[in-house]
This record gives sequence, structure tokens and C-alpha cells, in this order.
Amino acid sequence: AAAEKGGWSSFMAKEVAEQPQAVANTILGRVHDGQVVIPELDGLDELFIGINRVIITACGTASYAALVGKYAIEQWARVATDVELAHEFRYRDPVIGDDTLVISISQSGETMDTLMAVKYARERGARTLSICNTQGATIPRESDAVVYTHAGPEVAVASTKAFSAQITALLLLGLHMGRVRQTLTDDSAVAELADLPDKIASVLEKENDHVAQLAGWMADTRSVLFLGRHVGYPIALEGALKLKEISYIHAEGFAAGELKHGPIALIEPGQPVFVIVPSPRHSALIHSKVVSNIQEIRARGARVIVIAEEGDAAVLPFADEVIHIPLAGPMFEPVLAVVPLQIFAMALATAKGLDVDQPRNLAKSVTVE
Ligand code: G6P
Repeated sequence: AAAEKGGWSSFMAKEVAEQPQAVANTILGRVHDGQVVIPELDGLDELFIGINRVIITACGTASYAALVGKYAIEQWARVATDVELAHEFRYRDPVIGDDTLVISISQSGETMDTLMAVKYARERGARTLSICNTQGATIPRESDAVVYTHAGPEVAVASTKAFSAQITALLLLGLHMGRVRQTLTDDSAVAELADLPDKIASVLEKENDHVAQLAGWMADTRSVLFLGRHVGYPIALEGALKLKEISYIHAEGFAAGELKHGPIALIEPGQPVFVIVPSPRHSALIHSKVVSNIQEIRARGARVIVIAEEGDAAVLPFADEVIHIPLAGPMFEPVLAVVPLQIFAMALATAKGLDVDQPRNLAKSVTVE
């Protein structure tokens, strides 16, 4: 087993470090002449034309990738998109039919809840597409089409490289759909894809030791909160899930705008709060709203750890710690912002002496309902 870890202390550490390559593999062969063309979807344009609704269904970490996908598909393919946890979707009477595309996301391709949702969608006449990391798994076999993430085998129970590859696959899919539906007006996002692996590598290189040190200082923490807005919101949820899964610390992710509607009551002096700050270049308005959220929690004594774009000076006066990510397009920030949160959860679990690869009570793939 030690050899399989390739010198890393855990599979999770190895898989976190493999993310630049995993994401590069997801993109490989899918960009041609400045356009995203996914070869597996060749001849399947009818999956994307004449639909008026997309539902993305998944469980766990994959459902947070799905939330990022909602933003990308709505923006680029201009079709209303909702995310449904697979076990919730299946057990009501959803309004779906042949004008609905149901996208499922699953690393293993074997999660029973997700599989049942896909089968149910098909029975109802919906078009189905799966995003999967495991060649030939059951969920892709039950779907009309599949886009593989090609992240390589993921062994650690807590998902890391599969998650960044899932988001990348959703960005590719959103751009592919936008081209097919002729709704994509701006090719700048396609150009950004090529830089993504190097930007992930730069976060790993520049922030690993800083974040690990931070986690070491916080080994006795009993609760950590995560705030994000727009595509940073799913990353706040994922940051909290990683911490729960492997370090057994109470953690919650919130939409930053929701703070004043409840969660701010949790803030007391010393409460650690991670805030994912969107670039001010994308939207000065969204950025300023997140900065004012930071001021609100800081005023109540929170210990604020900010994840912000390099050069974002507006956050510095209010942050106890700043973790930097490189400049990237708005849809690409999640893939970068999640990396320090993965490192944080892993380092904190390690500081507590826990086995990061085999957390208690969890299975890598849940094949029962
Ligand atoms: C389990 C794992 C999670 C994973 C979820 C969905 O709960 O512990 O890490 O996110 O299943 O798995 P899937 O293989 O469908 O992506």
C-alpha cells in the first residue's frame, strides 16, 4: 500500500496533489480551434436542443460540483438549471419529461441513490447524460450519453481530484452546450481552460505549507464556518463537508448573503470562519457585498480566514489570514478555491491523529439506498 501512495503520507494527499494532472486529463482532447467539442457527444446535439430545463442530480461532493455546473450551464447554454439531491429527486413527483435533460454526476458511477434517480428520469422520458470517473460503471451504462472525467482512480473516501475534475467536466459541458445551442457569445472561457492545471499547481505550491500550519494551530477547534457567494457558495459547502468527513469537526457552509438571516447568531469571539471572496474584476458589486459580510463577522469577533484573488487589497484590513488564489475567470475560481480547503481538512485531521483515507462510518461508494 505504501508503494501505491507513491511516497505520499495518504491517498488523499496524493490525490490532492494530482489535481493539476486530473484536470488536464479532463480537458484533454476536448478543445478544438478555440471551441469546446466533447467527442463522446458527437452526433448527440439533439440532447441539448429543444430542452427547456436541466436538472443535475448527485449525492455528496458531486452535488456541490453540480451547483457550480448550474451557474455555468445557465450562463453559457441559457437553459434553466436546477440541482437536486438524487434521493430527494426520486421520491417526489418531479415535473420532468422529454424536454428535460437530467445530468447525473458520480465519481464511482455506482451510487445507488443516483442510479435510481437516473432510471426514474429515463422512465419519465427525460434525456439523460452522466458525468462519471469510472469507465463502464452502471450509471453511465444507464444513461443516453456519458462524459468521463478521466481523473484516474480515487482511493481516499473523501473526494478531492474527482471533484475538481467534475467541475471541469461541467464547465466543458456548459461550453459545449452553449456552442450547440448557439447561445455562447464569448469564447474567453474556452481560452482559460488551458491555464487551469497550472493555476491549481500554483495554489498547491504557494499555499500548502501556510494552510497546513493554520490547521495545526486550529487542532482544538470545535466548529468552523464557511461562507461563499455565487460559485463560491458550493465551495463553502464542500469545505465544510471535507472537514466533517475526515476531521469530525462540526462545520457548516452558508451562502454569504444568508448570514444576516440566521447564521450570524453563531458568531462569537474566536469563531473561525473561512470566506471565499470572488474576484472584484468579475463583479465589483458581489465582491463588495462579500467584503461587507467579512466586516460584519469581524466586528463580532470572528477569526476570519479569507480565500481571495492575488492582489485583492480590499480584504486585507479585515482578515486574520489571507490565502491567495491566482486570477481566473468567474467560473474557474471554484476549482482553485477548493484546494486550500482540502489541504486544511487533511492537515487538521492529521493534527488530530486521524486516518484521513478511511474516516469512520463512511464508504467510498454507497451502493445501497
Ligand atoms: C459517498 C462518498 C462521498 C461521495 C458520495 C457520492 O458518500 O463518501 O465522498 O461524494 O458518496 O459518490 P459518487 O461516487 O456518486 O460521486
